[in-house]
Amino acid sequence: MNSENYLDIIKKLALQIKNEPAKYLFDKFISEKNFNSNIRRRLGDLFFESIRYYRRLVEDPDFNLEQVKNEVCSKDLTLQDLTDIFGLNDEIAEYVNESLNDLNDYKFLLSRGPLTLRVNPMKMTRDRLLSFLNDFKPIKTEISPFGIKLNSNINVRQLQEFKKGFFEIQDEASQLVFNLVAPKPNEKILDLCAGTGGKSILLQSCSFNTLDLHSYDISKSRLAVLQKRAKILGLKVKIVEKPSLHYYDKVLIDAPCSGSGVIRRDVDNLLRMDKDRLLELVKTQRMLLNKAINFVRKGGVIIYFTCSFLRKENEENIEYILNEYRNLRLVEVCDILDANIVEKLNLKSYFKTYTKYYGMDGFFGAVLRVD
Ligand SMILES: C[S@@+](CC[C@H](N)C(=O)[O-])C[C@H]1O[C@@H](n2cnc3c(N)ncnc32)[C@H](O)[C@@H]1O
Repeated sequence: MNSENYLDIIKKLALQIKNEPAKYLFDKFISEKNFNSNIRRRLGDLFFESIRYYRRLVEDPDFNLEQVKNEVCSKDLTLQDLTDIFGLNDEIAEYVNESLNDLNDYKFLLSRGPLTLRVNPMKMTRDRLLSFLNDFKPIKTEISPFGIKLNSNINVRQLQEFKKGFFEIQDEASQLVFNLVAPKPNEKILDLCAGTGGKSILLQSCSFNTLDLHSYDISKSRLAVLQKRAKILGLKVKIVEKPSLHYYDKVLIDAPCSGSGVIRRDVDNLLRMDKDRLLELVKTQRMLLNKAINFVRKGGVIIYFTCSFLRKENEENIEYILNEYRNLRLVEVCDILDANIVEKLNLKSYFKTYTKYYGMDGFFGAVLRVD
């Protein structure tokens, strides 16, 4: 197959992205073809990289990936570029613009995310895991005490070390949820949006199974995956249908969000987003904050997270909930996290990670005390 054929295929697939996720479209297309692994890999690399420059890809008949990459690299990005090059909807482009101090930060979200692992301290130390994975040039994450980054594209799920439960795949920003929740043995913790368990498993395994951890989610099928994972890892995770009222020391909300902070992995998250969808998410996020207040005990905390950098989903929601309740107050994250983390990430009131620092996903976190 020559490069023109590749481009034709990619353009055709890209036209469907507004309706279906890119990964789903690509896998479906590949499963119907008889391509060898080399072609599959080349096509995948080209597709997932080209859709980052969505508008150019679908509208420019002379689209050339290297040219557009060089252009983006060598200029200061403007609001217009967010729509004209990357294909964001006008209103979403405005939200991105008001949320980033410097629009050039968007460039970091165009890179490929690293492969980051989190050691399971119940079974393995980070140093021992580093030596097991030596062939893949592993390095320690700079901030998370549990992380390892691999300079390799291998399928780590096939490794014996993964099958034995020595590590999970988890971005460094997500690992730092542990530091912000700062769980203590026997604490009653509710993971209110537990999903398939990324955070529940992080909290319990890095606490050596000492937490009274309850996990809830609106999706029963996701909770079933969490239950299975916890069982394999030997972790105590109680799935609850109705969390107890005013019971928990800490309630974690890992809120459904636009995913703007993780577009390195799923660039089409933002391509499918428009104002109505975003405001619908904001409504759900506010509902979850309101709900969480009923579950936390007096003196306990709510820890709110998104994997988004949009102010609408982050600071504006925290300002909203603080206005609603007199007995809520913001605990500055610089008073919770180690000085070393605070300094490296330049944190104060909120927990915020940006891809330009240490190559992490873009995360937001806020801690609210209920008095
Ligand atoms: C960002 S994901 C959570 C990811 C998960 N914590 C992890 O680390 O793997 C957001 C989750 O919120 C759940 N969700 C959406 N609306 C909800 C609601 N009203 N109550 C509880 N969970 C909800 C979704 O089913 C989804 O699993």
